[in-house]
Amino acid sequence: MTDARQIPPDIQAKVEALREQIRHHDYLYYVLGKPEISDAQYDALFRELQELEAQYPELITPDSPTQRVGAPPLDQFQKVQHERPMLSLDSYLKVEDVRAFDQRVRRELGIEAVSYSTEPKYDGLSVELVYEHGTFTRGATRGDGFVGEDVTPNLRTIRSLPLQLLSTHPVPERLVVRAEVYMRLEDFHRLNRRLTERGEEPFANPRNAASGSLRQLDARITAERPLVLTCYEIMFLSEPGPPTHWEAVSLLAEWGLPIPGQRRHCASIEEAIAFHDDMYRQREELPFEIDGVVIKVDRFEWQRRLGEKSRSPRWAIAFKFPPRKEITKVRDIVVSVGRTGALTPIALLDPVEVGGVTISRATLHNADEVARKDIRVGDIVKVERAGDVIPDIVERVPIPGERRKEPFRMPDRCPVCQSATIREGPIVYCSGQMVCPAQLKGALEHFASKGALDIDGLGKKTVAQLVDRGFVKDLSDLFALTKEHLLSLEGFAEKSASQLLEAIQRSKRVSLARFLYGLGIRHVGAHTAKVLAEHFGSLDRIRSATREELEQVPEIGPETASAVVTFFSEPRNRAVLERMRRLGVQVLDEQPREAKAERPLAGKTFVLTGALEHWTRQEAKQVIEELGGRVTSSVSKHTDYVIVGKDPGSKYDEAMRLGVPLMDEQAFEQLVRTAKRSAQT
Ligand code: IVH
Repeated sequence: MTDARQIPPDIQAKVEALREQIRHHDYLYYVLGKPEISDAQYDALFRELQELEAQYPELITPDSPTQRVGAPPLDQFQKVQHERPMLSLDSYLKVEDVRAFDQRVRRELGIEAVSYSTEPKYDGLSVELVYEHGTFTRGATRGDGFVGEDVTPNLRTIRSLPLQLLSTHPVPERLVVRAEVYMRLEDFHRLNRRLTERGEEPFANPRNAASGSLRQLDARITAERPLVLTCYEIMFLSEPGPPTHWEAVSLLAEWGLPIPGQRRHCASIEEAIAFHDDMYRQREELPFEIDGVVIKVDRFEWQRRLGEKSRSPRWAIAFKFPPRKEITKVRDIVVSVGRTGALTPIALLDPVEVGGVTISRATLHNADEVARKDIRVGDIVKVERAGDVIPDIVERVPIPGERRKEPFRMPDRCPVCQSATIREGPIVYCSGQMVCPAQLKGALEHFASKGALDIDGLGKKTVAQLVDRGFVKDLSDLFALTKEHLLSLEGFAEKSASQLLEAIQRSKRVSLARFLYGLGIRHVGAHTAKVLAEHFGSLDRIRSATREELEQVPEIGPETASAVVTFFSEPRNRAVLERMRRLGVQVLDEQPREAKAERPLAGKTFVLTGALEHWTRQEAKQVIEELGGRVTSSVSKHTDYVIVGKDPGSKYDEAMRLGVPLMDEQAFEQLVRTAKRSAQT
């Protein structure tokens, strides 16, 4: 304990003055984009404040500029009920429909000339911001429009969001505004480059990047992501406000909130349409993505009279831009093999700029899609980019008198491993499964996953290294790994290498159901694997089962039967299984149901809601069932436990209402550990 000490008044004043200065320069820089001091001068102010706060921690307030990143990581987001439902907008693409909207508005209001406020429609995610007595106190995502996620610590890291309203205009007791969080294009591309360099998945478009960055349990990650925000709606104001949306947005600006840089007050719908056309022309020059404009009836009194539908207001619409399209030529069609073994035809194009991005490849999705659009090498096609990085071929543009090449055919052999391909519905797969390098990483991750062999410490990164280094060429190689192999990988030391080797060693004794599931045979999920295991009892019997025998098993359909037979008849798969056996893998025969050991969770019913961090739904269900419990899909008073993950759904509310005990992920894991222990004794 330290004694309460007197803080010299001049220090207190100094701290306040520094904060005021920093806020002012933040506002100039992040909101107005017109800095007045150099970065170095700014840094000096910031450091001075940090030093004083370090000396006098009693003076730290949550709205201090130094506190933008300060909150510890969360386990999950809290739910928040919105002040008012956060509606969405009806979208219009055609100008006639926009005029019809205006006619309806004027008819309903009985007014000859209605004025509109127009703004860009920012392509990001919308949030609710709450200011109490001028201080930012809470922010939430839109969620389902009624209940969102509390992302306050994440929003605090956005520098254009004032933690304090400017008091040039008297600040209200309570203000709730709606804003869009988005990412500038330049920052988006830079972020994607950084992610790719680190071997992480890049985002498909700036909107996903903004959303993924804001919805981080660890706000320190958000802080590293260059998000910006623009406010466009007052949702609640504790005192009388201006009569129009136009003035309301101006008022937000007076409080220092960032507002749309381009907006127009329009005396008629024709002016609003002109704004749309102007923005459309400027679209490619803008440093961020917009996908249209929003047209809002300006007077609040009129808005109130027009009212709302269940999901959208009657007084505002989105007038969207047509998706970006360009014409180019298909140079070649190549085939790529994904982790699931699905073959995807890809068109290589004469490079063309679509909406400011040069496109030279486009996905053709699958064989049916190529046939339907009849795209062939040499064709002229229309490509479209709907805000995404990966563009789409919309259609072929026929050229009179052109001599076309042969129709495209999916290959009979996998371009990566030369195994035969098989077609299932619209998708063509490589049958190589375990031996196809393109599929191997996915297969290995699945084999090691919780529901299968449950090899602790064999995650995505390690799998990738093992395959890339050529240490694992098929699943059996896993059991031939040595400490030398592991020590040569990045991130491994003596201890971690021994631990992984031990985990692999332990996994060699594995139940038939888990092993079957782990093989990743198409259509054989955890449940089917269990059914097969219980029916046939041993791997040998399954391996030699005929299609007819398999189809006899309840719940096994012809597709699954066929997939199982195909898998076990592929000589290379058989060789892999044989090698596993030689390397000591022991697939334990399944005991008849009744003889199973005392099952610690017998009679208990569970419901899962929300996403668990370490388990998929399937894995959690499997472990509960193995321990004798049951998983049902809805909560009732007979439910024993509801396991609550991130973003739980209505089942959570139902559980609260019925008073059913809730369990978080940690508690669940504890329960599993205890139950497993008791099952062993
Ligand atoms: S006003 C009730 N204004 O577009 C009116 N929305 O479906 C609420 N958006 O979810 C929306 N820019 O996320 C409004 N200037 C703007 C906007 C905007 C982008 C988003 C918003 C909303 C979606 C419409």
